Amino acid sequence: MPELLLRAQKDPAEATYEESLRPRRLAEYIGQEKVTANLAVFIQAALARGECLDHVLLFGPPGLGKTTLAHIVALELGVPIQVTSGPVLERAGDLAAILTNLPVGSVLFVDEIHRIPPQVAEVLYPALEDFCLDLVVGSGPGARTMRLQLPRFTLVGATTRPGLLPPPLRDRFGIVHRLDFYQPAALARIVQRSAGILGVKLEEDAAWEIARRSRGTPRVANRLLRRVRDFAQAQGSEVITLEAARFGLERLEVDAYGLDELDRRLLSAIIEQYRGGPVGLRSLAATLGEDQGTLEDIYEPYLLQAGFLQRTPRGRVVTDLARRHLGYPVLAPGGLFPEEAP
Ligand code: ADE
Repeated sequence: MPELLLRAQKDPAEATYEESLRPRRLAEYIGQEKVTANLAVFIQAALARGECLDHVLLFGPPGLGKTTLAHIVALELGVPIQVTSGPVLERAGDLAAILTNLPVGSVLFVDEIHRIPPQVAEVLYPALEDFCLDLVVGSGPGARTMRLQLPRFTLVGATTRPGLLPPPLRDRFGIVHRLDFYQPAALARIVQRSAGILGVKLEEDAAWEIARRSRGTPRVANRLLRRVRDFAQAQGSEVITLEAARFGLERLEVDAYGLDELDRRLLSAIIEQYRGGPVGLRSLAATLGEDQGTLEDIYEPYLLQAGFLQRTPRGRVVTDLARRHLGYPVLAPGGLFPEEAP
């Protein structure tokens, strides 16, 4: 059982670091104002009625705070949280074991909920709707189903791909929120807060520099802060100045828009090998030697929202902004390079 419940993080060192910087209460949370304001109302209302909070679905690109919010919801409700993830729940029995052992009223956080196998999702439907579990007892002609009452609980599901949730599962969430990329002003406040926790002095313009290059993502911002702090420390500086931040970011090969090496490789590959697109995801992944899911879930969302890439029915297309940023000529109307134009 314990292995079914996990801290849903891949790298333990990063996880510990991230956890120390995570806001614990809604009042400490910076950004996503609509989401936090709504959650505050729903939590207060549930507490006032003495009821469980309705099930919550949080979706959006990685690193924007879905896990953080799940922990905050539990803390604000004053209930325990159990953490698991879709791919860990391989069999219906795995989920049944977790559900029957949940402390009353607790939050069950399921990360990557779109990866729950269909036969496990089936167990979840009556659990979410009626807080009960339909067990099959025995086998063959003598098999019967038995209904088991479960403790009431709140499911908080997180996903980068809401479109992959089976509709009956999606429909059972009473509270659904999308997390958006953060504005630089919010990220600057987040890294200032993190610097305070880490005990390092971060100058205002340095905070903005890190914020602007963080792909709208607090997890990236906090990681860059930690690396920039290392560079500043190596240079014997106790304060992270704009110059120190720029030096560190340069060394990390994070450019002025926050694009990293793979982002640039992806855009350059479309320009150089597919004349700017359209190119299908599968061909692009093969060209880059990367996994399709990684490109789609981790790299593309920011490139799309920042205007470097467009998704068309025929595939991915780079924009003029991407060409200019990477130093390629911008196409004349009709898709011709300037020297080919009549
Ligand atoms: N650290 C990471 N994300 C944060 C957020 N949204 N607010 C405050 N601190 C954070």
